[in-house]
Amino acid sequence: MQHDKILILDFGSQVTQLIGRRVREAHVYCEIHPSDVSDDFIRDFAPRGIILSGSHASTYEDHQLRAPQAVWDAGVPVLGICYGMQTMATQLGGEVSWSDHREFGYAEVRAHGHTRLLDGVQDFVTDEGHGMLKVWMSHGDKVTTLPPGFKLMASTPSCPIAGMANEDKGYYAVQFHPEVTHTQQGAAMLNRFVREIAGCRGDWIMGDYIEEAVARIREQVGDEEVILGLSGGVDSSVAAALIHRAIGDQLTCVFVDHGLLRLNEGQMVMDMFAGRLHAKVVHVQAAEQFLGHLQGVTDPEAKRKIIGREFVEVFQAEAAKLKGDGNKGAKWLAQGTIYPDVVESGGTKSKKATIKSHHNVGGLPETLGLKLLEPLRELFKDEVRELGVALGLPADMVYRHPFPGPGLGVRVLGEVKPEYVSLLQRADHIFIEELRKTIDPTTGKSWYDLTSQAFTVFLPVKSVGVMGDGRTYEYVVSLRAVETSDFMTADSAELPYSLLKKVSSRIINEVRGINRVAYDVSSKPPATIEWE
Ligand code: XMP
Repeated sequence: MQHDKILILDFGSQVTQLIGRRVREAHVYCEIHPSDVSDDFIRDFAPRGIILSGSHASTYEDHQLRAPQAVWDAGVPVLGICYGMQTMATQLGGEVSWSDHREFGYAEVRAHGHTRLLDGVQDFVTDEGHGMLKVWMSHGDKVTTLPPGFKLMASTPSCPIAGMANEDKGYYAVQFHPEVTHTQQGAAMLNRFVREIAGCRGDWIMGDYIEEAVARIREQVGDEEVILGLSGGVDSSVAAALIHRAIGDQLTCVFVDHGLLRLNEGQMVMDMFAGRLHAKVVHVQAAEQFLGHLQGVTDPEAKRKIIGREFVEVFQAEAAKLKGDGNKGAKWLAQGTIYPDVVESGGTKSKKATIKSHHNVGGLPETLGLKLLEPLRELFKDEVRELGVALGLPADMVYRHPFPGPGLGVRVLGEVKPEYVSLLQRADHIFIEELRKTIDPTTGKSWYDLTSQAFTVFLPVKSVGVMGDGRTYEYVVSLRAVETSDFMTADSAELPYSLLKKVSSRIINEVRGINRVAYDVSSKPPATIEWE
């Protein structure tokens, strides 16, 4: 099926992905590509509308970034956001004053005259009758002269040209960020742009998407065999369920239990895939192997590397076995790569420092000589979850917090000993159980749903306590719960004190070997979400 498409050109803003998410929420398919794609690429993509993103910082070299000429030749509506507005202005004959100083934050913007984009879209009306919008503004550089053919669409006292439009051409631009939720009518504006101004049908619907994806997988794979590394996380689970729907027993899932899973997790994954979905799952019990190699290793990076390396080894050995069993052998390796992973690896030009070596199965296809099957490549996380539910995976599993590939290996600080893993599993289970059980009266949601990620960390230090009449000298755990929208920055969650106390008391009473529970209130940055 051919969807109507929106092209988002990324000038490097941190929030470009949010533009994509808002467009998808309007049920319109979109893709994000770097701002320097070729004119031919844009023509071949054949978008019904184009959105120019903001840029990461007001730097000198940003001024060199331009939208390709094909954007203006495509004859389709264009929406410029922040830097996207500024480049629209300069490229079409207006003027921008560049400055090193940028202002971010809440602003109230006055809408001027009637434009299709803002018609009827407002948060409140002033006594003088002006429609006002509550927005998230970023400016410093600003448009100072409108390009020919443009009219003023919005303004604030410090940014007199905060929005502009050339309605004959369908060009609109705003200095503020409609993609962030702080801009209260932002989703409405983006919806208006993609559905009404660009005229896209709202044909991007997860329920329908299953059929499309199933047909595509069948066509790609034919009668060949596929293997998939199932981690029990959302992405690989949804990929497995989708591929299983498409090709049934041609799919073999390999679930590597490295002994660093949460309590009962191995069983839960097996029950769901083998028990309920009747998918072929090879359950590899590799705890001894992983824990053996981790013995005596305390450095976090060394631990991550060992876990990553062992994972690849176990997986390769299993893949080879499948081949040996009189089977034709797999030709495809399936992975749960999702759209943000694709954008991250292809789209950003910045050189980031390695804070932690993230573990994934990269590199496997070459060594195994397999073709890659990545059916979730075009989906955002929310869409993956929606798809999971539509495929019949339990909501409980689909809406689980993310869990890192190296598992509890990075939540037992320092050397990973089986005894520590077991204490941590039981303590963490209590924490999660209480988070799920405790409902916040104002929102009606559980604290599990109100936090983005929550877990327990094992500290290999002992402290003195008293239990009954006796002295104890036992280990410490720390609870960690964060709120974040992108996992790049995070705040510690303000869990109710009563909940923290209950969790602490249950852990100390029920898990022999732990006599102290702390709560981590650091934010990221400067801390990270995981402790290692
Ligand atoms: P940090 O600790 O870097 O974590 O603030 C950010 C998010 O990434 C997760 N994380 C990982 N996920 N493999 C993964 O699949 C990894 O090696 C890994 N390390 C951290 C972490 O749980 C959090 O959600």
